Amino acid sequence: MTPVEQMNTPAKAEREWSPGASESLYRVGAWGGGFFGVSDRGRVVARCSGTDVELEEVVEGLIARGLETPVLLRFSDILDERLRDLRDAFDGAIQENEYRGAYRGVYPIKVNQQRHLVEEVSSVGRELGFGLEVGSKPELLAALALTPGGDDQLIVCNGFKDRRYVDLVMHAQRLGRTIIPVVENAMELDQILRASKRFGVRPSIGVRVKIGSAGTGRWKDSVGARSKFGLTTEELLASVAMLRERGMLDCLTLLHCHVGSQVQDIRTIKDAIGELSQVYVELSRLGAPMGMIDVGGGMGVDYRGDQSDAESSMNYSLLEFASDVVYRVGEVCTRAGVEHPSIITECGRAMVAYSSVLVFDVVGSTRRAEQAVSAEGGGDSARATPDEPAPIRDLREALRMIGPGRLVECCHDAKKAIGDAVSGFRMGYLTLEQRGEAEGLFWETMRRARDERDRLGLEDEQLSDLDEILGDVYFGNLSVFQSLPDAWAIGQVFPVMPIHRLDERPLRQAIFGDMTCDSDGRLDRFVGEGGLRSTLPVHPLDGSPYRIGVFLVGAYQETLGDLHNLFGDAHAVHLRVVDGHWTIEEVVRGDTCGEVLAYLQHDSEQMLSTLSRDCERAVRLGRLSAADAGGLIRDIERELGGYTYLDPGAGSARDD
Ligand SMILES: Cc1ncc(COP(=O)(O)O)c(C=O)c1O
Repeated sequence: MTPVEQMNTPAKAEREWSPGASESLYRVGAWGGGFFGVSDRGRVVARCSGTDVELEEVVEGLIARGLETPVLLRFSDILDERLRDLRDAFDGAIQENEYRGAYRGVYPIKVNQQRHLVEEVSSVGRELGFGLEVGSKPELLAALALTPGGDDQLIVCNGFKDRRYVDLVMHAQRLGRTIIPVVENAMELDQILRASKRFGVRPSIGVRVKIGSAGTGRWKDSVGARSKFGLTTEELLASVAMLRERGMLDCLTLLHCHVGSQVQDIRTIKDAIGELSQVYVELSRLGAPMGMIDVGGGMGVDYRGDQSDAESSMNYSLLEFASDVVYRVGEVCTRAGVEHPSIITECGRAMVAYSSVLVFDVVGSTRRAEQAVSAEGGGDSARATPDEPAPIRDLREALRMIGPGRLVECCHDAKKAIGDAVSGFRMGYLTLEQRGEAEGLFWETMRRARDERDRLGLEDEQLSDLDEILGDVYFGNLSVFQSLPDAWAIGQVFPVMPIHRLDERPLRQAIFGDMTCDSDGRLDRFVGEGGLRSTLPVHPLDGSPYRIGVFLVGAYQETLGDLHNLFGDAHAVHLRVVDGHWTIEEVVRGDTCGEVLAYLQHDSEQMLSTLSRDCERAVRLGRLSAADAGGLIRDIERELGGYTYLDPGAGSARDD
């Protein structure tokens, strides 16, 4: 019996529910990459260097230290393990294919520029022969500062470059860094050559080529003739000619392409690497020494856990990716008699996504189905009156007909009738009581249809929206725009689940509304059995803290987040397991109200002095006592220094 069927046969399932049932209901094994599981106590654990760390225990520990949710937990052990997995995958593929070149991963810091994270990637990466990739001047400054004495650490410089960007590269080269500016468009090569003359250095130069093979997925426009990046074949040949003419063809050492992020279909990778390898051997034939082939990023993360070429998933593994890249580059070079180059990847998403988990508290809920039914006394058809409005009669009929084989029809009828009832009310044909009656009948019909669907175990697409229609809204103390911008902006799916009470059967279905006053501030796409679902199974709220985890959020979210409604960065905590126990390495406190206000030029001191003057006026007018005025200013000072999110510990307004 699947966890979903168990949920619908309450008594027996109640007894039989287990942490294991939760683990499969939320499909942890499918998306967790081996880094997450559910403990016997029914709590989500992060698997860190062989130690299971309960997220709930960590959060309780943080709250005891005065750090509230929402909080971003970053597991350094998981990050390190992902880097090692990448290294091992390529080492394995190199051995298997008797490939004679080296593998050098670089971390594209655009994926997450948080200093502690880049420091971690850089220091562990250095042992693994990894470097960094940058795409702008500020990123280059960060990379230089984070790789002190890192002469052996490769820095790949992508992105559009002005004279000052190129000068920084030249400075770094003179500093002894292994740094390669990649020519993104035809104007840049001349820029680089003139700078090398000014600085008296012989740069190692890379060129990015426009790949003709079709891309797939959301970022498929990173390739193709119309992509904004890279040189056309004609521009590439002109660049070779310019280098030869200036006696600097020996400076051309790296060929680069990037097929886009989160590539879902391995065939896209195979095609692009095949084409890039051809360009590589052609450049060699034209006399460029080369030596490095940079296949860019693109390795996906299986957020949905269904190993498919659907969005937010991927139909290949890390090992397959490494094996395909090494095989194809090796095969083309061997056939052309060209030395096997060092292979460089820029797969930041795959490196860091698993290492961060966002945890937020549920601070309230609206229950749609029950509320409506209880208010209307169960919508029973016995209450029909001969002259009641047609939509109500239709709703009674739809409710009466609920039964095997009629569910879709009843739902259609009820949806139509409730629409008629609302327009009838709008035009004044129904009273408020009658509208209430209609709504009660509608919810009753939907609820019975859902229960009948589940009792019969029907998987009818036309009945799949019943969970969403009847689902609750659980209000989460977070901002989707700040912490999960891709969920909002591009419908990215992230695994979401309660981090505790997993030894208890989740009896309700819900979506999450965030704290912003924006209807888009919601999470309503969830990994579930049989694919994506519009609601998540959750536990009834019982007055105790209820915490939700959003997983695999390490890539892009922190950098792309914004200040909608002035909800600022969440606290971020770096954790590592030492001697078998989790320890806090670093706490990066989230924004205070004062800080987010300052981003928009609201000065806290000025605000305080303005409000103090207002207080004194109110005291003069006898509206406030001096003590009240003092209390008011103290509260404002506290809020200016306080977290931008709700404080579940502060209790709700009802407490007074
Ligand atoms: C040039 C380049 N390299 C690497 C990356 C990172 O790729 P991924 O998202 O797979 O980490 C990007 C991202 O778009 C990119 O533009």
